[in-house]
Amino acid sequence: MLLLTTLLALGAALGVPAATPGETACSSFTLQDVSNVTVALIGTEYYPAGATVNISNPYSQINTNSLPAFCRIELSITTNATANKTAGTDVWLPDSWNGRLLGFGSGGLGGGIVVSDMGHVAVQQGFAGVSTDTGHLSNAGDGIWGGPHNDNAIIDFAYRALHLSVIAGKQVTEQYYGNAANKSYYLGCSTGTLKEVQQFPEDFDGVVVGSPANWMTHLPVWSIYVNLAVLPVGSPQWITQDMWSGLIHDEVMKQCDALDGVTDGIINNPLICHFQPETLACESGQNASTCLNPEQINAIHTAFSPYYQNGTYVFEGLYPGGEGGYANTLLGPVIGSISVDYYRYFILNDTTWDPATLNLSDIQLADRLNAANMNAIATDITPFVGPEHNGKVIHYVGMADNVISAGNSLHYYGTVRDQMAQTSMPNMDDYYRLFTVPGMAHCSGGYGANAFGGGGQAASGMPPTTNDPTHNVLSAMVQWVEEGVAPDHLVAAYYNNNNATQGVAFTRPLCKYPQQITYLGGDSNNATSFACT
Ligand SMILES: *[C@@H]1O[C@H](CO)[C@@H](O)[C@H](O)[C@H]1NC(C)=O
Ligand SMILES: *[C@@H]1O[C@H](CO)[C@@H](O)[C@H](O)[C@H]1NC(C)=O
Ligand SMILES: *[C@@H]1O[C@H](CO)[C@@H](O)[C@H](O)[C@H]1NC(C)=O
Ligand SMILES: *[C@@H]1O[C@H](CO)[C@@H](O)[C@H](O)[C@H]1NC(C)=O
Ligand SMILES: *[C@@H]1O[C@H](CO)[C@@H](O)[C@H](O)[C@H]1NC(C)=O
Ligand SMILES: *[C@@H]1O[C@H](CO)[C@@H](O)[C@H](O)[C@H]1NC(C)=O
Ligand SMILES: *[C@@H]1O[C@H](CO)[C@@H](O)[C@H](O)[C@H]1NC(C)=O
Ligand SMILES: *[C@@H]1O[C@H](CO)[C@@H](O)[C@H](O)[C@H]1NC(C)=O
Ligand SMILES: *[C@@H]1O[C@H](CO)[C@@H](O)[C@H](O)[C@H]1NC(C)=O
Ligand SMILES: *[C@@H]1O[C@H](CO)[C@@H](O)[C@H](O)[C@H]1NC(C)=O
Ligand SMILES: *[C@@H]1O[C@H](CO)[C@@H](O)[C@H](O)[C@H]1NC(C)=O
Repeated sequence: MLLLTTLLALGAALGVPAATPGETACSSFTLQDVSNVTVALIGTEYYPAGATVNISNPYSQINTNSLPAFCRIELSITTNATANKTAGTDVWLPDSWNGRLLGFGSGGLGGGIVVSDMGHVAVQQGFAGVSTDTGHLSNAGDGIWGGPHNDNAIIDFAYRALHLSVIAGKQVTEQYYGNAANKSYYLGCSTGTLKEVQQFPEDFDGVVVGSPANWMTHLPVWSIYVNLAVLPVGSPQWITQDMWSGLIHDEVMKQCDALDGVTDGIINNPLICHFQPETLACESGQNASTCLNPEQINAIHTAFSPYYQNGTYVFEGLYPGGEGGYANTLLGPVIGSISVDYYRYFILNDTTWDPATLNLSDIQLADRLNAANMNAIATDITPFVGPEHNGKVIHYVGMADNVISAGNSLHYYGTVRDQMAQTSMPNMDDYYRLFTVPGMAHCSGGYGANAFGGGGQAASGMPPTTNDPTHNVLSAMVQWVEEGVAPDHLVAAYYNNNNATQGVAFTRPLCKYPQQITYLGGDSNNATSFACT
C-alpha cells in the first residue's frame, strides 16, 4: 500500500496519469504541493456508480443513487493566514472524465458546498466539479455569520473563497488524473458569478451566469422598498396571495398575453406590457376581494416601476407576468431576511435594525461602504473576453424572476454593451450573449419553459431534456469555447407541474436578447412552431 501510494505520488509529480481513476486512486490520494494557496486535505471518499450519495449541509443537499462513479476530495483552504480564516472546498472527480473543470456559485447568503449541482451536473456530465462553502455554513436566507464586523467571512463570501478554490481545484484535478483540465467552466445562478469575470479573468474559459445578484448595494434596498409598498399585512395596500395569482395575474394576461403574437398564457415579452391595474378599480359596493382599492393600485405601480430614490436610479421594477411567484417572495407578508441581514450585519452593524425605517441615508451608506467590494457591476470586461483570454459569457434570466427583478440582468447587459461599444470589441455577440426565459421564476421553475441545464435546475427535479448544445446551456458554452460555435438560441422544456417525472408539457425557444419569440403557426406546445426575430 505504501509502495503504491509512493508510485502514485511520483506519477502525479511527473505529470503522468496517476492511475486509472477509481477506488484505489481515490482512497490513496495524497496532496502534492499546491501553488498560490494553502490547502489541507480533509479526506477522500469513493462512490461507485449507482452508490447512494446522501450528503447535506445547511445550504445544499443531495440524495441520489443514479450518479456515475466518482471520487470526492474534501479540502480546507486558508483564505487569510493572519486571521487563521479558512473555507471548505470540495473537488468531485468522475472516473469517466471529460477533461474539463466546472465551478459553481452559491445562492442568497448561503454557505455550503453546492453538493446538489456537484452531483447532478458536474459528475453526471463528466466534469471535475469544484465548489466552496464560501467560508461559512448557513442557509441562503441567513447572514448572521457576517458579524457585525466579521470582515474576513464577508470577503470570503464576496469572492475570495471561490477564487482560491478554483486555483486549488485546478491543481488537485491535475494531481488526481495526471493531466490538467483542458478548459474550465462556471455555472451559477444568483450569487457569486460576475465577480469572476470582472476580477479574476484567468479562472474560467466560459461562464454561464443566471440572474446574478451583482448589485448588492442596491438589490436589498430595492427588495425592502418593493415589499414595504404592500406591507403591513391587513393595511389598505396589502394584497393577498389569492388576489395576486388570480385576479391580478388574470388581468395581466387579459391585457398583455396576445401582444407578443401568441395567446398562450405566457407573457413572452414583458417589455411591451404596460399593465394598467386601474381596470380592476373597485366600484361602490363591490366585494373587496374581487377588485382593487386606490392604495393597492398605487402599490402595484410602485412594484412594477423602476425605482428612483431622490432622482437617482436604484433598480429596475418587477415585470408583469410572474404575480403568483412575486406574492410568495418580494410581495409576501415578511421582508426577506437576505435583504435585512445584508443591512444588519454587513452595513449598519446593528442587529436590531428595523427595515421599515429604510431611508435615503441607508442607501447612500451601502453605496459608500460597498461591503467587501461585493458589487460586481464593472462594465469593461476586456481582460476576460479580449484576445489575451478569449473568455465567453452566457447570461440567462427568467422574465418572471421573483427574487431579483429580471430588469437587473437587462440593465447590466446594457451597461456592458454601452461600455464595450467604446472599445476595439464593440460586438457583444462575439463574447457575451443574454438569453431571456419567459415565465421563468428565479433560476428555475415558474410557468414558462424553464428547463435547459441552468444552475440548480436538475437538482430541483427539472433537468435538461438532453445534453446537446441546444437543450443544455452548459453544453452550448462548451461548444462555443471549444469549437467557436456560439448559441443563437436555446430550447427549454416545461415539465408538467415542474416535475420531470410527469413528462414534458411543451418546449419553447429561448431567444438571444434583444430578439423576441415569434409564433410561426402550428402546435404551440412545440418549439419548432416559433422563431426568434
Ligand atoms: C501562481 O501565481 C503566479 C503569479 O500570479 C502565476 O504566474 C502562476 O500562474 C500561479 N500558479 C498557479 C498554479 O495558479
Ligand atoms: C440521508 O442523510 C440524512 C442526514 O444527513 C438522514 O437523515 C437520512 O436518513 C439519510 N437518508 C437515507 C435514505 O439514507
Ligand atoms: C486578514 O485578516 C486580518 C485580521 O483580521 C486583517 O487585518 C487583514 O486585513 C486581512 N487581510 C485581508 C487581505 O483581508
Ligand atoms: C486555526 O483554526 C483552526 C480551526 O479552523 C484551529 O484548529 C487552529 O487551532 C487555529 N490555529 C490557530 C493558530 O489559532
Ligand atoms: C484534452 O485535450 C487534448 C487535446 O485536445 C485531448 O487530446 C485530450 O484527450 C483532452 N483530455 C481529456 C481528458 O479529454
Ligand atoms: C460596520 O462595520 C464595518 C467593518 O466591519 C465598517 O466598515 C462599517 O463602516 C461599519 N458600519 C457603520 C455604519 O459603522
Ligand atoms: C367576496 O368574494 C370572495 C371571493 O370570491 C368570497 O369568498 C367572499 O365570500 C365574498 N364576500 C362577500 C361578503 O360576499
Ligand atoms: C436629493 O436631491 C436634491 C436635488 O438633487 C439634493 O439637493 C439633495 O441634497 C438630495 N438629498 C439627499 C439627502 O441627498
Ligand atoms: C435613516 O435611518 C438611520 C437608521 O438606519 C437613522 O440613523 C437616520 O437618522 C435616518 N435618517 C433620516 C434622514 O431619517
Ligand atoms: C414528481 O412526480 C412524481 C410522480 O408523479 C411524484 O412521485 C413526486 O413526488 C413528484 N415530485 C415532487 C417534488 O413533487
Ligand atoms: C415538433 O415538431 C417537429 C417538426 O415539426 C417534429 O419533428 C417533432 O416531432 C415535434 N415534437 C413533438 C414533441 O411533437
